[in-house]
Amino acid sequence: MSSFARFIRPAIGAWALLLLITAVPAPSAAQQVNPTASSVNERQLLQEMDRIQGRVSIPDQRSSVLMQPAGREWREFRNVALRWIGGVAILGMLAVLVIYYLTRGMVRLESGRSGRTIVRFNTFERFVHWMTATCFVILAISGLNITFGRPLLLPLIGFDAFSEWSLWAKFAHNYLSFPFTIGVVLIFLMWIGGNIPNKVDLEWIKRGGGLFGHDHPPARRFNAGQKGIYWIVVIGGGLVAVTGYQLMFPFYLTGIEGMQIAQIVHSVVAVLFIAAMIAHIYIGTIGMEGAFEAMGSGEVDINWAREHHSLWLEQQSAQPQTHRAASAAE
Ligand code: HEM
Repeated sequence: MSSFARFIRPAIGAWALLLLITAVPAPSAAQQVNPTASSVNERQLLQEMDRIQGRVSIPDQRSSVLMQPAGREWREFRNVALRWIGGVAILGMLAVLVIYYLTRGMVRLESGRSGRTIVRFNTFERFVHWMTATCFVILAISGLNITFGRPLLLPLIGFDAFSEWSLWAKFAHNYLSFPFTIGVVLIFLMWIGGNIPNKVDLEWIKRGGGLFGHDHPPARRFNAGQKGIYWIVVIGGGLVAVTGYQLMFPFYLTGIEGMQIAQIVHSVVAVLFIAAMIAHIYIGTIGMEGAFEAMGSGEVDINWAREHHSLWLEQQSAQPQTHRAASAAE
């Protein structure tokens, strides 16, 4: 072989090799991931492929997706945003009530007790109220356990006790949803007549509902604040019921996005509902003298009715004695 050929051959070889390397594109990072390799981890897969998906042999192919972007966003909402919304709403409401109680104290019966009473809620109304209220309190505690139990309760009581309690709490949450829903429907039907907003409510709101100072704005059977509670119960109760049954019977009516929306609506409405009912429970117990009797014995002192529901008392007084108890329900 000539010395020229000896020189040119390796040079051509090197040039061809260089061409080959630059012509074949470098495999992308995504192609480098072998999802079945034992060393591959979730974080790597999510970075490269945006989802973790495998293969399943059951008919529902959607179950092969273990993680995907919308799922991660929902999990972020569930573990972070929801806890903030719930924490701020519930603790915020408790803080406002503590401050109000410390500055204003209990709203007293200013004219004292007359010793004469008038029927405010009949036996059926009180039964429906307490059935709904009992279910609500248990639903609220068991629901809050789902949102806050892991970070707050688990470290305190340990895995065994937490899983046992959570199991019973979940049973209670599922089964008590039925009497609660019936209660909300009955409350809607029983009290709709007294809860349609009117111009008396505007005056009541303008005067701050008598919450500050010693004012007693006139009100019919339900004042504007109580009408607010009524509509929160009806609309909030309706929303948690509809979305709750969607969660209880998954994928019957909707796909994965619908399930996520149902969970978001259910949980956000529930924590706001709980905050509102804390205010209601406050005013029905330590917040206002004489209020609890309305739902306890069903009768209130005439002076209480005059101070808080003057137009209702006038209307009741104008009716013959025999009609009063029956029309108290109107
Ligand atoms: C568990 C503690 C509760 C207490 C101590 C309580 C107390 C009361 C009292 C005293 C009244 C009568 C107010 C009046 O005569 O003007 C009332 C009314 C009412 N309650 Fe409750 N309640 C409780 C829970 C609930 C719950 C959980 C709900 C619904 C989920 C509810 C829904 C209502 C509604 C819609 C009214 C009529 C409107 C109003 O007065 O605000 N209550 N409650």
